[in-house]
Amino acid sequence: MENKTAIIAGASGLIGRSLTQQLLNSNQYSNVIALVRKPLGINHPKFSEVTVDFDGISDFVDFPQGEDIFCCLGTTMKNAGSKEAFFKVDYTYCYDLAKRGLQAGADRFFLVSAMGANPKTSNFYSRVKGELEDQLSFLGYRTIYVFKPSLLRGDRKVFRFGEKLALIITRIIPFIGPWKKYRPIHVDKVADAMVKVAKQDDKGFYYYQSDIMQKM
Ligand SMILES: NC(=O)c1ccc[n+]([C@@H]2O[C@H](COP(=O)([O-])OP(=O)(O)OC[C@H]3O[C@@H](n4cnc5c(N)ncnc54)[C@H](OP(=O)(O)O)[C@@H]3O)[C@@H](O)[C@H]2O)c1
Repeated sequence: MENKTAIIAGASGLIGRSLTQQLLNSNQYSNVIALVRKPLGINHPKFSEVTVDFDGISDFVDFPQGEDIFCCLGTTMKNAGSKEAFFKVDYTYCYDLAKRGLQAGADRFFLVSAMGANPKTSNFYSRVKGELEDQLSFLGYRTIYVFKPSLLRGDRKVFRFGEKLALIITRIIPFIGPWKKYRPIHVDKVADAMVKVAKQDDKGFYYYQSDIMQKM
């Protein structure tokens, strides 16, 4: 077992729950620390959690030390209630987490972004995600890995009408040729790709699209 520590934010979410389990199962990490708003109820010898108010993450003195930071934070426009509130979670919290983690000694940052993220697009959701990807690259991490999943499949605890409807519609679409990358991807596949990529020893900024993750 390698003596590394993984820090994960968003561990209670759809991807985050799967990723936390896969990090705990991986022999790359001897410690997995989740930054949480409320306890997750995970009982595992490698697991610990730190309660965090993400509004104050930049000045959080007890930020844990770890080499790798995994960010699975995110909200929806519906849950956030406004563009400003959405931006706060999907951009500010993620950016501040990366910055604070770097100060605490991390040297690799793993971000779950989204397919189509682009700082120049007129679509607000995709633009926020794209701006975050862009700005992270200037922070000074040795390595940044950005995962850009298509629509996620998985066992979501709360019902999201739009997501459910989109998943039903995608069942009748063939997704062949250039459309393959739009095929919904299971969260376990994304988490598995993230843990596999973590075994690499790269330096720089790397993107992983859904179609690549499906094949890993
Ligand atoms: N869903 C999709 O189809 C899809 C597709 C492509 C990309 N993505 C992106 O993938 C990422 C993960 O998606 P997901 O579906 O796994 O997300 P999710 O299930 O909604 O989980 C989001 C996570 O973010 C945390 N979070 C939300 N609002 C917060 C706040 N105000 N303060 C602190 N933490 C907060 C949640 O913590 P709490 O439990 O404490 O609320 C949770 O751990 C997101 O960035 C999303 O945009 C999603």
